[in-house]
Amino acid sequence: MSPSTEIVSLHSAQIGQAVSARAFGLKLESIVQRYPEATSAAVDGISLDINAGELVALLGPSGCGKTTLLRIIAGFVAQTEGRIIVGEAAIDSLPPNKRQVGVVFQNYALFPHMDALENVAYGLACRGAPKEQQVARAQEMLELVQMTHLAKRLPREMSGGQQQRVALARALAVKPQILLLDEPFAALDKSLRLDMQIEVKRIQRLAGITCVMVTHDQEEAQSMADRVAVIHQGRLEQYASPNEIYDYPRTLFVNQFVGNANSLKGTVTSKTDGQSGTVLVAGVPLPARLVSRSLKVGDTVWACIRPEQLQLCAATEGIEEPGLKGVLTLSLPQGPQVIQEVRLDDGSAIKVAQARASNQTMLGLGTAVFATLRAGSVCHVHPLT
Ligand SMILES: Nc1ncnc2c1ncn2[C@@H]1O[C@H](COP(=O)(O)OP(=O)(O)OP(=O)(O)O)[C@@H](O)[C@H]1O
Ligand SMILES: [Mg+2]
Repeated sequence: MSPSTEIVSLHSAQIGQAVSARAFGLKLESIVQRYPEATSAAVDGISLDINAGELVALLGPSGCGKTTLLRIIAGFVAQTEGRIIVGEAAIDSLPPNKRQVGVVFQNYALFPHMDALENVAYGLACRGAPKEQQVARAQEMLELVQMTHLAKRLPREMSGGQQQRVALARALAVKPQILLLDEPFAALDKSLRLDMQIEVKRIQRLAGITCVMVTHDQEEAQSMADRVAVIHQGRLEQYASPNEIYDYPRTLFVNQFVGNANSLKGTVTSKTDGQSGTVLVAGVPLPARLVSRSLKVGDTVWACIRPEQLQLCAATEGIEEPGLKGVLTLSLPQGPQVIQEVRLDDGSAIKVAQARASNQTMLGLGTAVFATLRAGSVCHVHPLT
């Protein structure tokens, strides 16, 4: 039985009872963090309202301030401005060990000289729990993450996935109100990562614990989080459900960072009610969603089209299709789909995703093609920045 199937068999109530945190909401109010000597703020006025029992992913590129924000919530960094509220109470003046926050750090940060059990008991020891209680609780948590058999192992004698479980057990041992996870799966290989993602999500759900997870992997954020906060250069770009972020990106950055996007320069040629309109890209009029209401006819813009919104057809001499004209230059099979690169007549390249069917004949490289928008698709149009 694999670890993930074992944990499925754990009775729901057992997990709920074992972790048994009363769920609290978490509110970040206008958090600013300026490190001494840094030219710009690492966190630049971020406000987030996280519901009790919700799993929120902080998603953004390296250096955008994700870990800083997590450290502020945990109390390891005192923010320059703003307030942190758990439930109804501001916790800004509390030291880390009084915050009832469990943390799994970016590199697990297990103590190398302590075995798994001691590592898990550590947080309780810091909080002054009696020795027997520490051990009983640590054993209970190791059981929860299916690591009882390795209780006496040192971190260096464990695999990455096993260390990750111990780190999770340690974070949960203090019955936290809030669970913070900093890139918890980054060091795991792909299949183990999926197992651990499922386990963590299951424990989080059954325990009903409020959780903030940092990741720079947009797929991980999409698949695990109830809501995603996309952060760029210390600022919050968008905070919404994974679907909304993907289907209605509010900024060019979100459009390009979450999922793939072909960004092409175009001109707004019509604007109907609200946000619908048409954009002319490489001489082709395409239906568009004008992301900013201030956009008007004649504006030069970025038109973003996702690879899966496009389809290819071979160009036939003398017949013009309502699509972007180019030549097929590369084909990258990716499991269930194939990414095809098309070089347009103006020299720019776009990506087109096509589902891979086993008996399908693919167009040969060098074929002249049209890339057309699939029915019902619209491109997202953003102001030039
Ligand atoms: N102790 C510190 N002193 C000065 N600058 C810092 C300190 N810690 C972080 N920074 C800076 O603050 C910014 C945000 O760093 P942070 O570690 O929060 O980024 P991150 O989003 O977690 O990145 P990554 O994905 O690489 O872990 C970076 O520019 C970083 O160099
Ligand atoms: Mg980080």
